[in-house]
Amino acid sequence: MIQVGVLGAGTMGSGIAQVAATAGHQVVLVDVNEQQLEKAKNALTKILFRLVEKGKLSDNEANDVLRRITFSSSLEDFAGSGIVIEAIVENLKIKNEVFRNLETITGADCILATNTSSLSVASIGAVLNNPGRIIGIHFFNPAPLMPLVEIIPAVQTTETTLQTAKQLIDSWRKVTVLTKDTPGFIVNRVARPFYGEALRIYEEGIADFATIDWAMTELGGFRMGPFTLMDYIGNDINYTVTETVFAAFYYDPRYRPSLTQKRHSEAGYLGRKSGRGYYNYAEGVTLPEP
Ligand code: NAI
Repeated sequence: MIQVGVLGAGTMGSGIAQVAATAGHQVVLVDVNEQQLEKAKNALTKILFRLVEKGKLSDNEANDVLRRITFSSSLEDFAGSGIVIEAIVENLKIKNEVFRNLETITGADCILATNTSSLSVASIGAVLNNPGRIIGIHFFNPAPLMPLVEIIPAVQTTETTLQTAKQLIDSWRKVTVLTKDTPGFIVNRVARPFYGEALRIYEEGIADFATIDWAMTELGGFRMGPFTLMDYIGNDINYTVTETVFAAFYYDPRYRPSLTQKRHSEAGYLGRKSGRGYYNYAEGVTLPEP
């Protein structure tokens, strides 16, 4: 079994590491931020032992999964990996810098994948000397629970990279869907108007966050309302994705970002991860589990 490298130990990276380690791979989870690594380790331990309590994993299995994950702050530890999945900030310049470094560290056959939500996979891979290794592998949050994974070959991606990546993710018992390298791919594109229209309804003073969420869950049959979901995803990430999709579709007004979301993001009201978003979690909001 190949070693799996995961770059970025945030919301997505730690979930992807859990999925790969549960499937039996040795995993190297790298982050520039030592505190984040510590946080990811504690969170993963908590999640795995909650699964033990629920009877979904044995004590030994949980310990084995944890033992298979190496937490590191050095990219050099990706040297022996067969694939590296990048899940760092949604910023092309930073991602390009990282992929340039990844190419010098990993072997020639190592697949270099990105979990980007909205950037073009082609633009991320453009800095590589061998761009045939680039591919988009887009997990959904929370990665261990969400079965769908979008597989996005860029124009540079070779057939071998595509087939190897798809087989790997299929072997992790995920449901893969092949999509073109277009802004937001399938799911994030469909989701833009869902968030956008909810924010516009709020901005027009028609209803508050909780009422809109209530209407969508109780009456609309959605598992989460738009504001609960944006808080779950993170307002910084969600806003950036909207901005990128808007620009990538040549400023089509259908995808126009919201100033309300921008202000929440600027204020640090990022959602669950910062304790406050559209809702104040410090005051104890009861949220539906996904
Ligand atoms: P996050 O903010 O929770 O985590 C990002 C992590 O990357 C942080 O721990 C940070 O310290 C680390 N990092 C930043 N720059 C780095 C660098 N140069 N080298 C190593 N580590 C670095 O972000 P999140 O939500 O996990 O998103 C990561 C990626 O996944 C983004 O591209 C995002 O668009 C995508 N994504 C996010 C989803 C979500 O619901 N949050 C869903 C699907 C994809």
